[in-house]
Amino acid sequence: MRRLRLGALALAFFAIPLQAQKFEGLALTPPMGWNSWNRFGCNVDEKLIRETADAMVASGMRDAGYQYVNIDDCWHGTRDSLGFIRPDPQRFPSGMKALADYVHAQGLRIGIYSDAGDKTCGGRPGSRGYESQDALTYARWGIDYLKYDWCNTQGLAAVGAYTTMRDALHRAGRPIVFSVCEWGDNKPWDWAKPVGHLWRTTGDITHCWDCEQDHGIWSSWGILRILDKQKGLRVHAGPGHWNDPDMMEVGNGMTVNEDRAHFSMWAMLAAPLIAGNDLRTMSAESRAILLNREVIAIDQDSLGVQGWAYESSPSGVEIWFKPLANGDWAMAVLNRAATPQPVHFDFAHEYLSDGHSKREAKFGEITYAIRDLWARRELGTTARPLAATVPGHDVLMLRLVKR
Ligand code: GLA
Repeated sequence: MRRLRLGALALAFFAIPLQAQKFEGLALTPPMGWNSWNRFGCNVDEKLIRETADAMVASGMRDAGYQYVNIDDCWHGTRDSLGFIRPDPQRFPSGMKALADYVHAQGLRIGIYSDAGDKTCGGRPGSRGYESQDALTYARWGIDYLKYDWCNTQGLAAVGAYTTMRDALHRAGRPIVFSVCEWGDNKPWDWAKPVGHLWRTTGDITHCWDCEQDHGIWSSWGILRILDKQKGLRVHAGPGHWNDPDMMEVGNGMTVNEDRAHFSMWAMLAAPLIAGNDLRTMSAESRAILLNREVIAIDQDSLGVQGWAYESSPSGVEIWFKPLANGDWAMAVLNRAATPQPVHFDFAHEYLSDGHSKREAKFGEITYAIRDLWARRELGTTARPLAATVPGHDVLMLRLVKR
């Protein structure tokens, strides 16, 4: 009897890893927040994180839905004699627990960064071989979000490495959003749904409209380049598991039109909305973009269906649609060209049928009211053709409201 019970106990113990899973219910809409990397690179310290949390509240971003304050690469110090990771004592003298407490006290959540390999991309200690210890440490500090990168992973298989960290986080017991960041190299959309809450689909973004920045063995990509790489991926995303076309570059040097188009298209993609600019000093224009609640609502719509390019013309105009939970549709007219372009769209002759979401819009039979989400005004109805001019590198962002 006793032997039997011991056997059952052992079985239960060894069964734990098999039962491990990701934390469910954490990202039913795409995560929203801020991350240090795009603007600050390795220059992170506790003062920046505290001030960013303050700015997130003061700017109204928290109340608009931005939740996570995420520290990217280079926060790390060395491991202690037992192998536990410590923050850089110069940059984070108060320690991570105190910083997490501060961020939580502002009604926000805090995120951190590590890497599946021996070292992070910035050369700091990676989590390879220390997954359980690191997960425990993050849980003790009160971390809510982990971005897990893929540098220096020679000999590792992505599915296994990310699953190892998922299981470690789950065993540590604190619900943590798990952000898979292997740049789409191993087609994470095919395997990461039970592993993480979001997965990067591409290499790194950079703040240009349509460029490739060559860094030797890797490239970073402008807004249109990243957008084009999302083709075909929409069927993999949904509540709790999102395609991640990378953090935003709004406020980092592009024109206001480009920033507006970037933000709108990320909303059409149901992308995580992770700001990457300096929130403490941002311009009124950047703030107005990041805080447009009607555009945010398109991104955060509970149906969780990623939009698609319905039509594109040689002039560089693309028409995108995204179905919404209440029967409305989001529609974006993107002008990829540098010069203003006319758009003429005769709804009456168009019929949207989305096999993925099983939604359709028979514009010939049902009339929708049109709301312009950037001009914040009504534009008539779909009973008449839409005729407009879209400025260069800009967008017309509409909500077709079911009446
Ligand atoms: C990789 C990631 C970036 C950033 C840097 C940090 O390039 O894709 O988003 O985290 O590493 O070194």
